[in-house]
Amino acid sequence: MKHLINKKLKIDGLDLLKQIQDNSIDLAFFDPQYRGVLDKMKYGNEGERQKGRFRLIQMEESKIKAFILEIDRVLKNSHYLMLWIDKFHLCEGIYPWLLDTKLQIVDLIIWDKGKMGMGYRTRKQSEYLLILQKKPLRAKGTWKIRNIRDIWSEKISPQELKLHPHSKPKGLQKALIESCTDINDIVLDPAAGSFSVFDCVKEKNRIFIGSDKRY
Ligand SMILES: C[S@@+](CC[C@H](N)C(=O)[O-])C[C@H]1O[C@@H](n2cnc3c(N)ncnc32)[C@H](O)[C@@H]1O
Repeated sequence: MKHLINKKLKIDGLDLLKQIQDNSIDLAFFDPQYRGVLDKMKYGNEGERQKGRFRLIQMEESKIKAFILEIDRVLKNSHYLMLWIDKFHLCEGIYPWLLDTKLQIVDLIIWDKGKMGMGYRTRKQSEYLLILQKKPLRAKGTWKIRNIRDIWSEKISPQELKLHPHSKPKGLQKALIESCTDINDIVLDPAAGSFSVFDCVKEKNRIFIGSDKRY
């Protein structure tokens, strides 16, 4: 896997995953590109501000499931997948994605973005990070930082948003990397967007494997 390490690969995440050995990844992040949330909010007239979002490659449910199956295969036992989900998947459930995997939901973090987003009814200020663990489930020895709160407030800078409209909070990602891995462990992000996880991994002296089809 040496040729995949510490690079901003521009390939399909599923093609990347196929090149990774079983049970070799210490921590995975997956941030799918949902169209669903925008459809359900009934935006038809997104206007100039939203055009950037619609240029992104959307993922069908079957594609997301295929990613999760592969992540399950490459992840080590008792290690974690950090999965970003929207509010509709939070409420309606993601169990179909977990069929045929050894992954189980073990926790949830709400990210308070500290600024008001879109919405015809309420305005969106939060996103959700599901924490899944590959069986066998084990808390002891798999989670080092004991004061990560399940509501995490962190603003994204305008520069980060310029890089990608869905950039995720680096402070939270760094805390999770530090909590769930050791130095030189391998962290995966197969739909990496702005490669914010890569930046965090470098800072924490871990190894990165990840790609984005477009960025
Ligand atoms: C929600 S964004 C990820 C944002 C990222 N977490 C960050 O902090 O910048 C999802 C990304 O998935 C990418 N994508 C969509 N389909 C893909 C595929 N098949 N393989 C790899 N990347 C894909 C999109 O180009 C988009 O940049």
